Amino acid sequence: MIQRILLGVNGSIAAYKAAQLVRLLTGQGLEVRVLMSRGAQAFVTPLTFQALSGQPVASELLDAGQESAMGHIELARWADLILIAPASANSLARLAVGLADDLLGAVCLASRAPLWLAPAMNSAMWQHPASQANLALLQQRGAHLLEPERGELACGEQGDGRMMEPAQILQRLLAAQPDQSKPDPLRPTPLKGQRALVTAGPTQEPLDPVRYLGNRSSGKMGYALAEALRDAGAEVCLISGPVALPGPAGVERILVEQALQMHRAVLDRVQAGGVDLFIACAAVADYRPVRVATEKIKKGSASLHLELQPNPDILAEVAALPAGLRPFCVGFAAETQDLEQQAEAKRQAKRVDLLAANRVGPGLGFGQEDNQLLLLWADGRLELPLLPKRQLAQRLVEQLVKLSAASCQPPAKNSSWPLKAGS
Ligand code: PMT
Repeated sequence: MIQRILLGVNGSIAAYKAAQLVRLLTGQGLEVRVLMSRGAQAFVTPLTFQALSGQPVASELLDAGQESAMGHIELARWADLILIAPASANSLARLAVGLADDLLGAVCLASRAPLWLAPAMNSAMWQHPASQANLALLQQRGAHLLEPERGELACGEQGDGRMMEPAQILQRLLAAQPDQSKPDPLRPTPLKGQRALVTAGPTQEPLDPVRYLGNRSSGKMGYALAEALRDAGAEVCLISGPVALPGPAGVERILVEQALQMHRAVLDRVQAGGVDLFIACAAVADYRPVRVATEKIKKGSASLHLELQPNPDILAEVAALPAGLRPFCVGFAAETQDLEQQAEAKRQAKRVDLLAANRVGPGLGFGQEDNQLLLLWADGRLELPLLPKRQLAQRLVEQLVKLSAASCQPPAKNSSWPLKAGS
């Protein structure tokens, strides 16, 4: 059980949010000690954190006074969990390399406590391959990401890079606490030996060299499902449209842009045999432009008409494969009205084994951290409450395990499935 949190605060305008975070954490009865970088002290004073946490604030590695109070090794041993919020691009790079020439780096190297990172930075810095590679490395080593949000940044730009709100960070930390009703620390792996394929994110259908038809899917739900399947023991391949998320550790990821590319990637995998489970969570464009202009379409005074043609329905095609090739199929339905009625119609039309329906619209489903699902299958239904997508994915996988075991499909095994590290 997490009781003691070491909060590392880096230099960022988001440092002020860390003060609210301390208040929220201590409000839960947690002990918090704050460790500030020099950069952080340019934004908020140590006195603020000292007053809020009721503990002295540490900042220097080679300060005899601070080391005698609680040295870096003691801090490393004291912490049940290390949370860095805000985590700067510089901090991600230093942690990825394993530098120990400042207090935070030394404590992180010396500690075996789980590491949680809430990055905050300019969106170009966040999207830079160097930052993403550093983050991917840290995640491979077990660090947990509290994804930055999209919005107005301190630099005046709009984009990804705003630190997650303190209330949401608290919610995520609490949700990750081990379930005390299950004292067995060994995680069950009911899907061990099974191969799962997941689609996630949006597709982008090009109109010309610079424009496309797309949608607001962030990939969070599909990526959470890939992680939940992996945690349940499955060998997972994630076929993803363009998103800003790093590939989950231990999951093979294939990146695509267009619906036709996603269709090809999925069908190639399934038709090769050996896929036991298929979850179609991607928001695939139903239509694509008939013609893709080779040059940028110029502005004119007349109205512009686009002719669209239907894309293949990936889920329906997979669900229609003959027994032996057909995996257990889970579909999603994103609806703005008549949720259950529309979803049930989709379940039957696409002939899927389990359908997860969610309401979408402003503040719902797409791009959100939380979601709510109605699960429908041939002779049952289950309402899952509003939960962080990671938890919701676990609940959905639990239901999938029960139903797929009951359906007893003969596995179509084939050993041609290369498992690579998350890309
Ligand atoms: O990515 P997030 O921001 O986390 O948001 C999650 C989500 C809202 C996108 C997700 O929960 C969700 O609802 N995904 C399905 C979105 C969708 O396209 O729904 P649909 O009702 O239009 O499609 C029904 C099903 O058919 C889906 O499983 C879809 O993947 C599949 N489909 C649709 C069209 C097509 N050409 N091929 C398909 O396989």
